[in-house]
Amino acid sequence: MGVLGRFMVTLTKCMPRFMVAAVARRYVAGKDLSNAISVMQKLSSEGACFTVDVLGEEISTLDEAQFFIDEYDRVLDAIVEHKLDANLSIKPTAFGLLIDEKVAYQNIERLLKNAAEHDIFVRLDMEDHRVTQSTIDIVLAMHQKGLTNVGTVLQSRLLRTRDDIESICEKIGGAADFRICKGVYLEHEDIALTGYQEIVDALNSHISQMLDRGAYVGIASHDLPVIDHTIAALKQRKMGPSIADPRDHASPARTGKGPGYEFQMLLGVRGNVRRKLAKEGHRTRIYIPYGNRWYEYSMRRLDENPDVAMHIVKSIFLPWTNRR
Ligand code: FDA
Repeated sequence: MGVLGRFMVTLTKCMPRFMVAAVARRYVAGKDLSNAISVMQKLSSEGACFTVDVLGEEISTLDEAQFFIDEYDRVLDAIVEHKLDANLSIKPTAFGLLIDEKVAYQNIERLLKNAAEHDIFVRLDMEDHRVTQSTIDIVLAMHQKGLTNVGTVLQSRLLRTRDDIESICEKIGGAADFRICKGVYLEHEDIALTGYQEIVDALNSHISQMLDRGAYVGIASHDLPVIDHTIAALKQRKMGPSIADPRDHASPARTGKGPGYEFQMLLGVRGNVRRKLAKEGHRTRIYIPYGNRWYEYSMRRLDENPDVAMHIVKSIFLPWTNRR
């Protein structure tokens, strides 16, 4: 995969922008908020709910954070106006986390307060290892201030994740609300697992650990062994669609959330699996990225993880493996 993946990355980077746009159209809702709204309205009929991501991350000056502050306010207004079943996903570095932590905290706190007024949840996406601890710290600090409409993402490839789950649950108990995923950033083997099977095993074990700790769990994976494990783990705990969360240490259900868990998938990826889960009654959430920085975003994802290029090629030439 390594050499082939890197070859595909190089090839994709040589493609003219309009060709990349044709491929990206499937994974990015469009350039504007209005595109994201149309996509969500269309996909609502598939029983899905959403999390909206304004494309962009690590900024180089604090002034750039203002764009994200304003744009996410517009997203909140649109969710309310169009009565969308949606919440927000934000990248803390786009709010200044790597430039000035104090300012980033203020920016994020302001957004959380605006979102809380409409009972809307905000997910802090997890970026690379430089910001793992500081992203977790933001969530804990906001909960301490009474802003509980926030949770973060943990990455199962990181060796620290089991301890992170324990320490977050110890501090905020059943109010802990996680998205758990493999992790898209290929981190150094000193701090991360590198093999497919060991990452799947870790992810499955983290899902069970989170369920046992009473946390809300957003399972963000398109991988069938992970989805199958989750369904078995839910059954074992007498959890499932249309069953009130039976765990006595869990928090009461929030607006827009499932009974202790939900499945999350990326726009354009394995829609057939998502629709099947929704039909079975599971809450399914689609990650909706939009924005005019789609090209830079797509190229950065390719650099971080050549597997993404392989997924895209597979979806073009072997579409049955990855249905919309
Ligand atoms: P795997 O990579 O094995 O994919 C299983 C199958 O799904 C593939 O064979 C392919 O068919 C399809 N597929 C998966 N990814 C695809 C893609 N990008 N394009 C096309 N097809 C694809 N990571 C992170 O570090 N921080 C974060 O905050 C998030 N947030 C996040 C939100 C949501 C909703 C999802 C679904 C994922 C993330 N991720 C993430 C990314 C995550 O860590 C992981 O890299 C991808 O989900 C791919 O891993 P899978 O478990 O899906 O399995």
